[in-house]
Amino acid sequence: MAVIREPFGRTKDGREVEKLTLRRGTLEAEVLTYGGVVAALRTADRTGTMVDVVLGYRTLAGYEENGGYLGALVGRYANRIGGARITIDGQTYPLTANEGTKQLHGGPEGFSFQVFDVAEASKDRVVLTYTEPDGKNGFPGTLALTATYALTENGLSLRYEAVCDKPTVCNITNHSYFNLNGGGSAMDHRLWVDADAFTPIDADSLPVAASADVAGTPFDFRTEKAVGRDIGQDHEQLRLAGGYDHNFVLTPKPGLRLAARLTGERSGITMECWTEQPGVQVYTANFLETDASTKSGVPYGPRQAVCLETQVPADSPNHPEWRDVVLRPGQVYDYTTEYRFL
Ligand code: BGC
Repeated sequence: MAVIREPFGRTKDGREVEKLTLRRGTLEAEVLTYGGVVAALRTADRTGTMVDVVLGYRTLAGYEENGGYLGALVGRYANRIGGARITIDGQTYPLTANEGTKQLHGGPEGFSFQVFDVAEASKDRVVLTYTEPDGKNGFPGTLALTATYALTENGLSLRYEAVCDKPTVCNITNHSYFNLNGGGSAMDHRLWVDADAFTPIDADSLPVAASADVAGTPFDFRTEKAVGRDIGQDHEQLRLAGGYDHNFVLTPKPGLRLAARLTGERSGITMECWTEQPGVQVYTANFLETDASTKSGVPYGPRQAVCLETQVPADSPNHPEWRDVVLRPGQVYDYTTEYRFL
């Protein structure tokens, strides 16, 4: 059976966008050629009723305005880069700032706002490609991305491969807002994260240290608890971000590993996040605010979802002492993350 491909409107500058619907068993995923968006992800709840577990918009216009990055593929460099500047091999490159003096999520014309090509499509798998030209959003070098979305037996696998022609930086993630009940507050969802440490931030949401111990803090999800249980605690890190919006430093393990587990308390849907990345940004949709152009027709508000954005810590290009995030010609950036339903 072939993949279902439908038109999903035209961008403001007149480019055609498609929606591809993947199916496997009881799972269904909708992927847009705009921003590599995961527009829907459906799985069965404990009564067998299908639930769409990601937030999104009804029309393309919503995704073109997508300040919250709902469902989007984020790159070339997800998260914040302080001072909108990177230095590689002694050379400094100014980036296009789009959050005060910082760059957020790849800049104003980042991957989330581009039309991708469909390189391959079958009933349960689609391969999208996009090439970001040298200098776009300020980044050095052309970066060619291949993003593979595949339904597995029990979930959605996302693989990002990228190659460049000049040394550059790369950190690609998916920005789905998960609500495993299909809507409402997500603060009673239960969460477990395999992290002994998190990355503390300053008032600009830039890291101030590589890691801080979660023990004895609201950031300790090593024993499953309701996401919102400790979110109101008087803790400086929660105050700075208006909730959780932090990188969790995963316990180092090789290969594709279980990083986090989220359960919708009403639907009974449990989703595991498996990744090859060293960290996961847990974001409790603290700033989420939309109009009524959502899939449900009801505006979304803060805390109605949990994002599990697998990645390296924010601003890593300016902290080479933490990790080397430079991608060089001849190397292949290649990371897989899977969202699996139990
Ligand atoms: C960031 C948040 C930001 C959100 C939407 C998340 O990845 O950590 O601070 O508000 O994306 O841009």
